[in-house]
Formats: sequence, structure tokens, C-alpha cells
Amino acid sequence: MKIQNVDLMYLKKKYGTPLYIYDEKHIKDNMDGFLKYFHSSKFKTEILYASKAFSVKEIYRIAKEKGMNLDCVSLGELYTAKSVDFDFSKIYFHGNNKSYEEIEYAVKNGIGIIVVDNLMELELLDSICAKLNKTQEIIIRVNVGVSAHTHKFIVTAHVDSKFGVLYGSDDYKKMIEICNNSKFVKFKGFHSHIGSQIFDLEAFRAALVKLITYAKDYKEKLILNIGGGFGVHYTNEDSPIPFNKVSEILIKTCEEELAKENIEIEKLAIEPGRSIVAEAGYTLYTIGFTKKTPNKEYYFIDGGMTDNIRPALYQAKYDCDIVGKENEPRNHKVTIAGKCCESGDLIIEDYNLPEAKTGDLLITYTTGAYGYSMSSNYNKALTPAVVFVEDGKDKLVSRRQTLDELIEREI
Ligand code: LLP
Repeated sequence: MKIQNVDLMYLKKKYGTPLYIYDEKHIKDNMDGFLKYFHSSKFKTEILYASKAFSVKEIYRIAKEKGMNLDCVSLGELYTAKSVDFDFSKIYFHGNNKSYEEIEYAVKNGIGIIVVDNLMELELLDSICAKLNKTQEIIIRVNVGVSAHTHKFIVTAHVDSKFGVLYGSDDYKKMIEICNNSKFVKFKGFHSHIGSQIFDLEAFRAALVKLITYAKDYKEKLILNIGGGFGVHYTNEDSPIPFNKVSEILIKTCEEELAKENIEIEKLAIEPGRSIVAEAGYTLYTIGFTKKTPNKEYYFIDGGMTDNIRPALYQAKYDCDIVGKENEPRNHKVTIAGKCCESGDLIIEDYNLPEAKTGDLLITYTTGAYGYSMSSNYNKALTPAVVFVEDGKDKLVSRRQTLDELIEREI
């Protein structure tokens, strides 16, 4: 089996397993797709790659090369972007509890926009900007009361979210007052992010309509950022909407609503993370022992929840294959279990696969988002290597952690 014409046995020999493999062409095509279709003649548009989905130097380099801007949520992500000279004016900085150090770092380095999450953050930001004598553009994260999870979305005032403020609330009014009176912070618009792995475009439409309603109260042309959350294909239960369609609907909705309300905006921004990297990513494992119990058959792999926490955390579903046996009869119902000391360390449950032997390679699909970025050293597992493949070539992007690195910070 090959990805981008690179043989998986060859990758196993060269880099070992578990191994994160990314089809670089697929990532670039996804970025190109959003960049091509997300346009309007009525307002500017901006596409920010939500780098929490997968944050390594190389993805920041690719985003930079493609002309895609960034969404960062921590000093760590900002620092990684900085390490490849990413233009900070093209970054939005998110987070509900940004530290003094993070805000100072962002402002000093000329961050484009700070997405302010709450009143205390704005007070701190204003004081830091005053100290540095720097002005800073901000947008406020508002809680639009639309919350979407996969196929369903709910419109309720989800008043207790840890993210954002309620439009028109006392905190919100104080925030606007601070902006009006400050020489340093400049209010530029609104942000909302309604959830993840969403297939229902109506949910985005509802959120966008809310933001436009809020924007009506301001005479300046604002930036509206509606976050990410566009669903991808993990298994056949998922039917994602292609990015040209997502773009078309969002742009059309925005144009129509603006015309209806008779207002203009400066810019509409989106922050896709998963939909850029998920389907471009694969994880390659080696099968070790196999075992039958009265009711189950197990294939044990050399990774697990340390490289992919999503099944344990969200009951996320994946598809997989035994490399080289893709066309053999799938006559074994098996559970793919990781090697961690945790009964919940199951990557895929009750899945039909051919008979596997020790040493066979198992590949899981659509692992490019929130796999590596949520990996851990539980049981002192080593973080796997990350390799990009394109057009018959492989490129090491992050090497496997070593045992010495695992303990080097320990006193
Ligand atoms: N913008 C904001 C403000 C966000 O909070 C997120 C994701 C995104 C953009 C990107 O969303 P995406 O397009 O990737 O769905 N660990 C979870 C996902 C957490 C998402 C958090 N926020 C998972 O593995 O499913």
C-alpha cells in the first residue's frame, strides 16, 4: 500500500512505528480549496488555519507559503509560528485565560488581532498595551447561543460557556466602554465558534445571522469571524460538505443578510482546522500480539491513546486496514487495542478485518487532526515521528522522541 506513491513498508523501516503520515498534497489542496472559494465582491475574506488541530513548524511553513493566516491559542503555538518567521500581523490570538506573558509576547511581536474572551482579559490587555505604548486591534468573542455538535445544533442562550461573553450583558457593555475610552485597544468586531465536526450548515448560518444582528449596532464596518468546525469524513457515518459548498453558503448567507439589514462589514473570517488536516493524516502501527477472549478478538498495536486520544475521549470512530491485506476477506471481528495501562485504550472496536499476523502493519485513516496535537507521554510512551509524503518523496517533519528526551527535564 502506498500514500502519494510512497510505500508504507519502506516508511516503517525508515522511521519505525507508530508513525504519523501526512499526505502533503492533500493538505495543500485543502488550503487551496478554501482560498479559492471563500471570496466575496462585497467584503474582504480571510482564512485562518486553526493550528491547534496540528501544530508543527512545517504546517506553519506551508500555511505561510499558501497565504493562509493563522489562529493560535497559546504561547507554544505562537512560539512555533515565530520559529518559522510567520508574519504575526496575520495571526489571531485566541484563548479564554491568556496569561500576562502570552499577551505581552503577542503584542510585542505585533500580533494582528487578539480575540478577547472576557472582561478581565480586556482590562489586562489594555494595561499591557499602555505599558508597552502599543495599540492593539481586538475582536470580542461573543457567545451567540448556537451550539452545534455533529449532526445537530441547538439555539439556546448557552449562558454558562467558559468561552466568550453574552452580547449586551454587563460585562460586554463594560468591554465596549473600555474600548471607547482606551488609547490602546481598538474594537474591530466579533468572533464566534459554535462547535466541532459540524455537518449542518444551518448552524453556521444561524451563528452568522446573530453576528450580523450585533454588527447592526455599530456604524464602523466590522470584522466577523465565525470560527471553524467544518466536519470531515472519519467513517461512512459522516457526510461532510465540500469546502466549495461551505464557502458558497457562508458567503451567500452573509451577502444576503447584509443586504437585508442594509449594513456593510469589513471582513468575514473563518478558522478551519480539522477540515484542513484530518483526512490528510494517517497513523501507521505494527501489530504485536493478538488474543481471543470468549466474546472478543484483539489485535494489539504498538501505539494507542497516547497518539490518538479521540476514541477514548469522544468515542470517536475510525476506519483502518491491515497493510497489504486490503482486499482479503474481512472475516474477523476485532478490536484494535493500544498498549497503555487503561482498559479504555481501544482505537477501534468490533471492526471487520482480515486475519492479521504479528508484525503486520495496521493503518488508521483520518488521523491528521487532534492526534499528534493531543498526544501524550502516558506510560512514558515516546511521541511518534511525523513524516510528510508527496509525489514519491518522504520528508521527516518531527522525529521520534528519544528516551533521553523523555527524561531530560526531570531533576
Ligand atoms: N476556532 C476556534 C475558536 C476553535 O475553538 C476551534 C476548535 C477551531 C477554530 C477549529 O475547529 P475545527 O475546524 O478544527 O473543528 N479536540 C477536539 C476538537 C476541539 C476543537 C476546539 N476548537 C477533537 O479532537 O475533536
